[in-house]
Amino acid sequence: MRLAVFDTHRYDRSALEEANADFGHALTFLEPRLTAQTARLAEGFHAVCSFVNDRVDAATLELLRACGVRLVATRSAGYNHIDLEAARRLDVRVTRVPEYSPHAVAEHAVTLVLSLNRHIPRAFARVRDWNFSLDGLVGFDLAGKTVGIAGTGRIGRVAARIFRGFGCDVVCFDAVADAAFAREVGARYVTLEELYAVSDVISLHVPLTPGTHHMVDAKALARMKRGVVLVNTGRGALIDSRALLDALKSGHIGAAGLDVYEEEEGIFFQDLSGQVLQDDVLARLLTFPNVLVTSHQAFLTREALGRIAHTTLASVRAFERGEPLVNEVRVEQVRPA
Ligand code: NAI
Repeated sequence: MRLAVFDTHRYDRSALEEANADFGHALTFLEPRLTAQTARLAEGFHAVCSFVNDRVDAATLELLRACGVRLVATRSAGYNHIDLEAARRLDVRVTRVPEYSPHAVAEHAVTLVLSLNRHIPRAFARVRDWNFSLDGLVGFDLAGKTVGIAGTGRIGRVAARIFRGFGCDVVCFDAVADAAFAREVGARYVTLEELYAVSDVISLHVPLTPGTHHMVDAKALARMKRGVVLVNTGRGALIDSRALLDALKSGHIGAAGLDVYEEEEGIFFQDLSGQVLQDDVLARLLTFPNVLVTSHQAFLTREALGRIAHTTLASVRAFERGEPLVNEVRVEQVRPA
């Protein structure tokens, strides 16, 4: 099948081309993000492949449908960038990659915690400047600390296990508590309020929905322990970034590791070096020595890219053959907020 791949980067292209040896689709790689402005590039394609910072809203979907597109295969787990209601109305089917490597994302979350706690970015910059002093680099033992995992789905569970391996106490919050999982890893479920109040480290692993939008707002930040390390590899808008700025300025938040940012669309995945960064909140966040921002790279391992490519192309083949779409996402499946 002819597939237009939007927002293509070198690593996407090589993973998709390699996986396509098993499928034989005709792949066309497009650099622009998929938005209403670029949707017409899909003229003549029945399927498009999108990624997290595309804007697959009603206007984009209408244009895609007019171009002949009947399938949007997002090569991501999250699908908050797609208007599923509009997709249903227009009879455009949507597939995603529900699981590719929870390890990739969980390990990145832990990487952010370790890097922030032991001041690795500062230490690296220092020794490169032949400054071998240790002042300002004091961290804490993770062993014995309490880690709060918000969202114990695929990724949150792996993160919980890793932190247990460090000797941490793990408290969990999820809309659906899994007592057997908690027993097995030696964690316990608490309310979100309690998680905020008792955790030394908090890692967010819930999807972005109307119910989780800004779940970390000024009130939530105030409930957290002074000095908490807050890590977000979920979606940017789980955190109210302006409230986080204030909490960092006051010193209440000890450190923040952000792989996602609520206004990342149009910034993350791009090389903007040499340009003036227009986002004042992000620019301010980047000035803190205790903030570590990565550009939505938690998924970026060889293993994850290979599985993403394979699952995406398998969905396209199933669609082409009229077979059931096992990774379809439909508006009625989405948990109400
Ligand atoms: P999952 O679907 O396996 O788990 C999500 C968990 O959140 C479930 O246990 C669910 O019950 C819980 N949940 C949903 N709504 C909730 C609510 N309102 N309150 C409390 N709990 C709620 O998803 P998975 O695979 O663990 O991924 C989690 C999120 O991580 C994705 O939705 C995506 O946004 C993000 N992600 C980020 C990546 C990155 O590169 N930074 C890569 C992959 C995923």
